[in-house]
Amino acid sequence: MLTILHGNLLHAPAFGTLETIPHGYLVLEDGVVRGLFPVLPEAYAGCPVTDYGESLIMPSFADLHLHAPQYVMMGMGMDLPLLEWLDAYTFRTEARFEDTAYARRVYRQLASDLIASGTTRVSMFSSRHTDATLVLMEELERAGVTGYVGKVNMDRNAGLSQETTEESVSETLRWLEACRFAHIRPILTPRFIPSCTDGLLEALGELARERDLPVQSHLSENQGEIALVARLHPDCAHYWEGYRKFGLWKEGTLMAHCVHSGEAEQEAMAESGVWAVHCAASNVNLCSGTAPVRRLLERGVRVALGSDIAGGDQLAMNRVIAASIRASKVRQMETGEAFLTVPEAYYLGSTAGHAYFGGGGFATGQPLHAIVVDDGEMPRPVRELRLEERFERAVYLMEKRHIRAVYSEGRKVLDRR
Ligand code: GUN
Ligand code: FE
Repeated sequence: MLTILHGNLLHAPAFGTLETIPHGYLVLEDGVVRGLFPVLPEAYAGCPVTDYGESLIMPSFADLHLHAPQYVMMGMGMDLPLLEWLDAYTFRTEARFEDTAYARRVYRQLASDLIASGTTRVSMFSSRHTDATLVLMEELERAGVTGYVGKVNMDRNAGLSQETTEESVSETLRWLEACRFAHIRPILTPRFIPSCTDGLLEALGELARERDLPVQSHLSENQGEIALVARLHPDCAHYWEGYRKFGLWKEGTLMAHCVHSGEAEQEAMAESGVWAVHCAASNVNLCSGTAPVRRLLERGVRVALGSDIAGGDQLAMNRVIAASIRASKVRQMETGEAFLTVPEAYYLGSTAGHAYFGGGGFATGQPLHAIVVDDGEMPRPVRELRLEERFERAVYLMEKRHIRAVYSEGRKVLDRR
């Protein structure tokens, strides 16, 4: 079936490039993008058109690092550095997700908040609980969110949330058996090196290899964490080698943060095809630091963005994009590394994240992931704005009420008309 969307089309096909098509046409066949056109080609004349008028139509957001159970502690308790913050707040909060009815209520709200905020793709950490993780996957699927979810593995240094090694492995197998979702797939999720024993990391590495499963975790976020990893693995010169030792460092592995990754760690990421997920809001909130995003990109490391709630305080990825730009400006003032422009940061928070899953956004031949933004109620400017200016303002100011429609994997999953 052909669907044609009409409106102001904007997208960032490459890092640093913004393409605009004023009053353009986006042609879909069964939800798959066939092309973007300034004028509707003759071949499509007479096809029904969904007219979004003056609204902006742009690729949706991809959040490649967030902690679902921490949704309930968003905007709170960011007064401690990472390891103390985990002990004081996070592990206690996550322990609550033993209760699947509670999980259902929280995750239903999270899933609808994601869609309303224009995020259609995620790579998400659940808690250690298999049943709550399955509830999370169900709720995301129901709301129209796509991507990866991981049952978290942690068999040491995890307070109330700790499992035994045997439990962690057998529950992971039980969880994998039960994962039967069309748009939400499993990703192995050792929390981070300090909360996993060697035995657990080894078992997960084997599972990743045997079943060709993707992996996500945390890397070089905070100095205290890095020092702890060095004590736990004295044979590793760098943090990343702890993951390599157990077969978890591979093409497509997602590593959140990489704030303090030095040259050798950056090179290892580029060589192995490991992705860095930059979480600027969280890095500032927990006083972790500012990540060397441009250096990583220059070295050929693939980078996407994450909200990292609840180290991050905002679920809306346009806010996370704005936070990345701000953090990069602080970094420029401190190190001289050039800040991220709006199209660059937007690319990282949309196109790059979609590319991780094989394409999307406005990529031809891929199912559409898009949002429709009505900026008509934003403060009236002194003159008519160019499309590029409206785009910049939308990135900084967009709120849920401005998002009129959301398309995920070619399906319309939100319609406020
Ligand atoms: N490292 C290990 N666990 C976590 C977490 O929940 N949040 C953040 N920001 N870093 C982590
Ligand atoms: Fe995190």
